[in-house]
Amino acid sequence: MTVVSELLWWRRRFLTAALGLFASGHVLRGGAVAGEEHKFPPNFVWGASTASYQIEGAVSEDGRGKSIWDVFSHTPGRVKNGDTGDVACDHYHRWREDIDLLSSGNFSAYRFSAAWPRILPSGSGAVERRGLDFYERLVDGLVAKGLTPWLCLYHWDLPQALQEQGGWLNRDTSAKFADYAQVVAKRLGDRVKHWATFNEPNVHALFGHGTGGHAPGLTGLPNMLAAMHHQNLAHGRAVEALRAERADLRVGTIISLQPVRPSSDDAEDRGAVERFDAVWNGACLDPLMKGAYPAAVAAEFSSLVADGDFAMMRRPIDYLGVNYYAPIYVRHAPESLFGAWFGAPPAGMRFTAMGWPIDAGGLTEELIRLRDRCGNAELYVTENGACYDDPLAPNGSVEDDDRIAYLRDHLAAARNALAAGVNLRGYFVWSLLDNFEWAEGYSRRFGIVYVDYATLKRAPKASYRWLAGFIGDSAPKN
Ligand code: GCO
Repeated sequence: MTVVSELLWWRRRFLTAALGLFASGHVLRGGAVAGEEHKFPPNFVWGASTASYQIEGAVSEDGRGKSIWDVFSHTPGRVKNGDTGDVACDHYHRWREDIDLLSSGNFSAYRFSAAWPRILPSGSGAVERRGLDFYERLVDGLVAKGLTPWLCLYHWDLPQALQEQGGWLNRDTSAKFADYAQVVAKRLGDRVKHWATFNEPNVHALFGHGTGGHAPGLTGLPNMLAAMHHQNLAHGRAVEALRAERADLRVGTIISLQPVRPSSDDAEDRGAVERFDAVWNGACLDPLMKGAYPAAVAAEFSSLVADGDFAMMRRPIDYLGVNYYAPIYVRHAPESLFGAWFGAPPAGMRFTAMGWPIDAGGLTEELIRLRDRCGNAELYVTENGACYDDPLAPNGSVEDDDRIAYLRDHLAAARNALAAGVNLRGYFVWSLLDNFEWAEGYSRRFGIVYVDYATLKRAPKASYRWLAGFIGDSAPKN
């Protein structure tokens, strides 16, 4: 990038915005102005995302301790078809090949997560050097290919040893998380400059501690609230620990953030929106941004909050990562965990194979909302992508046109957000590889690269080639 080209780009963007062409995400649903879709700013970050338990495998190698997902997936009935992450994509051994895929895909960045139990098998105390060695090899491999590593410290694989001491129900886990953050930064902070503390603490709290559909399989509102509060606290403590370790790190966090809409016109369903939004979108974001819980749920958190918690949670971050797949439709549901629950989307919407409604305009809408809610903070779409039943053709190709359409529309939506003045700096596709989709096991494919789980062979899908072309056109390599 040159300063001049960046200035020109921003000037063009402001002129477009001034013309009022992009005032609302809603009216833009489905696409950008013809021919404009490649106009992303110079230096826009193009990445792919993965997570440790979903791809690494090698669960018993090099001293790795057990995580809550090992225990959960090995508990009969928890994961579809009894699938586990024991082998997953075997990325632990095939990481070189995966880096090559990133590089040939024209990506400039790779977001991965470190497995806490690989590095601290008991969650605290003794450090397993071989775990750190693995991430060091990976980071060095990325850097050697010109890819920027984005390291996320927690993508749901808590050391089982800590779960046995209460896990996220225990306040003390937040202090252990900060110690872990420091250990990783000490080893890798000279080469990894982009850090995320958490991935989707809201989803982890809700499904892992509220409904029990994810590890560690706990249920009930008090558990869910405690898991949220202690992750929020852990985030703040880790931000502090990372900054104390090195002053030159860019530190942020990643939250699943979606527009919440009523599933019908009933007054009660419309009323459910505020509460659902407060829990899903607000309870992990507002403490970080404002140092408070949303009014609709603040009273329920009050017994968890100790003096100084909000000040800790509110430590300034450098960016916010947004994971967006679909808007959420909700209904009044007094019998549910918090009185509002997932409802049916309106008739006429299209769905991915996950059953999630497709609405690219929701991404623009959410990004615009965050622009206003977070003081125009630096934003990255850290996950966006789609699950389809991708058939592998006899010639080895996967023609996933539906995924291409999904990505095209969501990239246009991201561009529309830029045109509306959102400080959006990058886009990471979920996911590089088909992988272990949590309670759905290997039955759901999100990758732009197909993984044959019998042979572990990787086969780039049509979407991989399409995206590589899109990135190449948007950010030509000099
Ligand atoms: C999540 C995680 C990913 C998922 C992806 C598709 O949001 O659940 O960040 O690990 O695999 O979102 O569900």
